[in-house]
Amino acid sequence: MKITVVGAGHVGATTAQRLAQHQLGEEVVLIDIAEGIPQGKALDMYESTPVLGSDTRLIGTNDYKDTAGSAITVITAGQPRTPGMSRDDLLMANHKIVSGVTKNVMKHSPDTILIVVTNPLDVMCSVAFQNSGLPSDKVIGMAGILDSTRFRSFLALELNVSVKDVQALVLGGHGDSMVPLVRYTTVAGIPISELIPAKRIEEIVQRTRDGGIEIVNYLKTGSAYYAPAAGVAEMVESMFKNQHRVLPCSAHLNGEYGIDGIFIGVPCILGRNGLEKIIELKITDEEKAALKKSADHVKGVLDRLK
Ligand code: NAI
Ligand code: 2OP
Repeated sequence: MKITVVGAGHVGATTAQRLAQHQLGEEVVLIDIAEGIPQGKALDMYESTPVLGSDTRLIGTNDYKDTAGSAITVITAGQPRTPGMSRDDLLMANHKIVSGVTKNVMKHSPDTILIVVTNPLDVMCSVAFQNSGLPSDKVIGMAGILDSTRFRSFLALELNVSVKDVQALVLGGHGDSMVPLVRYTTVAGIPISELIPAKRIEEIVQRTRDGGIEIVNYLKTGSAYYAPAAGVAEMVESMFKNQHRVLPCSAHLNGEYGIDGIFIGVPCILGRNGLEKIIELKITDEEKAALKKSADHVKGVLDRLK
């Protein structure tokens, strides 16, 4: 099984490294427009595989012919934000990049599954979907896992418990209007409302919403990549090993949650063929209103492309 990662920058290279380390893919192809960068990074990673004990082959290239026949393609190509920018400020530049990349990918891998990472995430999923001609179960965005893992790690810190025991679900668009579902957040099955006062939960929710900019403000020249790459690898693993994991991902909705025609974060089951099912949770009126607000925001950004 061949997996292509488009964009050999921070997220793309870290993703390729994770895939190789966990032997997710017989071959991982890293492609970028920058000459020499994907070749150098892929070779460096390949040279680590004897130490890692992984038989994944890594190839770096600037030529889409080398991506031919990819089962999964991860799109990370595009600009990251820097301090003072919102993800939506990347819209025009990344629209052009993601449209072009998708067309090039599809020429050589017409049956691939696309995992989109480039921001603004939910809108870039629509761009990839429209330019690929793929059915909607083959185009899935990574963001909910990132937002949820941030929430989980902050809760583990707060309670001084193992991160393994914290389960959380963040739905909605990947932006300020994301919807962390506190009611579905538990520690070893115990609702967090029984463990943390409501006011403190609200502060942790806000830190989760601001999780991306917190890293940008430290890094100054770009945005997060270790946790995002871990999120992508989790999606790839579920498909590669046909695990049917239930993961929050950006999926194309056709009336689920009362939302139609856009990509937004919802609980998804991922298997070998991509998106197997969207789980429609019973959510409260308040949660519905928050999800609708988030969907309206995504629609507004998408409309700017018309
Ligand atoms: P980066 O600047 O380190 O890497 C981007 C790479 O894309 C560069 O190597 C660049 O040469 C390449 N690129 C640009 N145009 C290209 C094209 N037409 N074809 C192939 N490659 C091209 O940026 P980083 O940190 O890797 O972030 C990439 C994107 O992912 C950004 O838009 C960022 O906002 C987004 N992101 C999204 C996350 C999510 O949760 N969905 C999480 C983290 C980042
Ligand atoms: C984040 O939340 C960059 O969107 C990415 O860190």
